[in-house]
Amino acid sequence: MLPRCAFSVCHVFVLVLCLSSAEDFDWTKNDHSSFYYGTFPAGFSWGAGSSAYQTEGAWDKDGKGLSIWDVFSHKKGKIQRNETGDSSCEGYHKVKDDVSLMKELKLNHYRFSISWPRLIPTGIKSDHINEKGIQYYDELINHLLENQITPIVTLYHWDLPQVLQEKYGGWQNISMVNHFNEYANLCFERFGNRVKYWITFNNPWSVAVEGYETGEHAPGLKLRGTGAYRAAHHIIKAHAKVWHSYDTQWRGKQKGLVGISLSGDWGEPVDISNQKDIEAAERYVQFYVGWFATPIFHGDYPQVMKDFIGRKSVQQGLGTSRLPSFSPQEKSYIKGTCDFLGIGHFTTRYITQKNNPSGRSSSSNYFTDRDLAELVDPRWPDPGSEWLYSVPWGFRRLLNFVKTQYGNPMVYVTENGVSEKMLCTELCDDWRIQYYKDYINEMMKAIKDGVNVKGYTAWSLLDKFEWDEGYSERFGLYYVDFRNKNKPRYPKASVQFYKRIISANGFPSQREVENWRRKAVETCSSSNQLLAAARRKSKEHAEMPKVWPVHDEV
Ligand code: NOJ
Repeated sequence: MLPRCAFSVCHVFVLVLCLSSAEDFDWTKNDHSSFYYGTFPAGFSWGAGSSAYQTEGAWDKDGKGLSIWDVFSHKKGKIQRNETGDSSCEGYHKVKDDVSLMKELKLNHYRFSISWPRLIPTGIKSDHINEKGIQYYDELINHLLENQITPIVTLYHWDLPQVLQEKYGGWQNISMVNHFNEYANLCFERFGNRVKYWITFNNPWSVAVEGYETGEHAPGLKLRGTGAYRAAHHIIKAHAKVWHSYDTQWRGKQKGLVGISLSGDWGEPVDISNQKDIEAAERYVQFYVGWFATPIFHGDYPQVMKDFIGRKSVQQGLGTSRLPSFSPQEKSYIKGTCDFLGIGHFTTRYITQKNNPSGRSSSSNYFTDRDLAELVDPRWPDPGSEWLYSVPWGFRRLLNFVKTQYGNPMVYVTENGVSEKMLCTELCDDWRIQYYKDYINEMMKAIKDGVNVKGYTAWSLLDKFEWDEGYSERFGLYYVDFRNKNKPRYPKASVQFYKRIISANGFPSQREVENWRRKAVETCSSSNQLLAAARRKSKEHAEMPKVWPVHDEV
C-alpha cells in the first residue's frame, strides 16, 4: 500500500498523459492494450492468499501473545473507524469452511502466513512455545494437503510479537535477526515435513517505510530519514540468516524452497525521451523492489540508493550515510539467498524527476531521498483503494525488470488483485473480473517474454482487515459479512471467472472468455439475493452483538 504522503503528490500532479509514450520498450512492441489468447505452461500454479492478522481473528485465544498490530489497532485514531482485527473473518475457527472455498475455486496453492506470537507468545523461543498455536497451523496444513492444495507459507506478514517491540525496539534492533531465526527454525521443525514453499518476509518495504518512517502502520514509529533504512537492513540480514539455516539444517531432508515476497509498483517515465525522467523512474523501482532484491541477488544495495542517500546525508552534515552498509562478509553471506522470488504487485505510477534540496535545515526522508514525483493518469480506473489504479501493462514491465535485473529468477506472484469500497455491497464485481483478466493476461505476455513465472496468487481469498483502512476496503474474491458475528462468506462474480481461468489454465478464445464473464455476472445476482435476504433477516432479529462496531453503510 502506498503512504498517504505519496497520494498528495499524485493528486497535485495529476496529468492527462499520452499513453503512447509507453510504447517503445522492446518487450512491448505489440500494442499494450491487445489481449493475448493462449494457455500458461503446464503445471502453472494458481492460488489465492491471506495473512494471519488480516483474517484469523482469535487475537487473544488459546494462549496467543500480543502482536504489534493487536496493540496498534487498539489505540484510538490509528485505524479507520477504530476497527481492529480482533475477530476479523474468524478464520481461526473456519479452517474447513475456507478450504472448501478454495476447493470450489480449484486452487493449486494457498498462501497464508503464520502468526509469530501465536506460536511464541513473547517472540522469544526460550520463553514458551504455544502448542495450541502449532495445532491450529497443523490442522490448516493437513487439511490443505488432504485437498491437494499446496501451502505456501509466509513467516512474517507484519505481526511482530509486541514484547519484542517493547523490549528491543522491534526491527530497529539487530537482535531481531536471531529471534526471527529461532522462530523460523521452529516452523521448519514442526511444519517443514509438509510445507515446501517458505516466504521469510512479506512486503518488507511496507514494514520499513510504513512501520518505522511514516508511522501509518504498526508499530507506528516516525523515525524520519533513518527508521526505514535501519529496519530494512535488519530484515535483509534476518532473511539471509533464515535462508542459510534452512539450507544447512533442513533442505537436505525437507527439500523445500525459501524465498521472500517483495511488493512493488511499476514506475514509468513521464517522458521517455527525457533521460532525467528515465533515471527517476528507474530510481523509483530501485528504491522499492531493488532495495531488497539487489542485496539478496547481488550482495549490496542498488548503487543509486547508495549514491543518493549518501550525498544527501553529506549535505545534511552527517558523518555517515543514513543508509547502513554491509561488510564484505555480510555481502557474500546475503548474496544468493533466494530460491524463488515472490512478487506482490497492484498498480503503476508515472514518474518524473524532481529535486528535493537537502540541507542542514531540511528534513530528508525515504520519499525526498528519491528526488522524484509520482503522477497518475486520471483515465486509469480506480475502483477501490485510493492508491490502486488499474494499469495492467505495468505488471508486464515489472516482471521483465525482475528478469533482467536479477538473472531471471523463479518467480511466484504472491499478491495481485483489486479492492472495492465498503459502501459497495454488490457481489457482481465486473471491474474485478476486468482487473484479473487484464493483469493475468499481462503476466502471460511476460511469460512469453521469457520471465520465469511459476505461479499466481490472487489477493485475496476473502475480504479482510485492510490494515490502517480497517474493513473499508474489500479485496476478497469472497465477500465477508462482517456485521454478522458468524462472518458468512458469499462468492463474488470474480470467483466464477477466476475459476474458469484456472480450469482452462489461461484464456482459450475470445468467445469463451466473453462467455465466462457473462455467466459469472448472471450467477452472482442469485448470490446478491442471498446476501440481501440474510441482511434483512439479521436486521429483523437484531442479532448484532453489542461489542461489534456498527457499519452503517453496509
Ligand atoms: C500488500 C499487503 O501485503 C497485503 O496485506 C494487503 O492486503 C495488500 N497490500 C493490499 O493493500
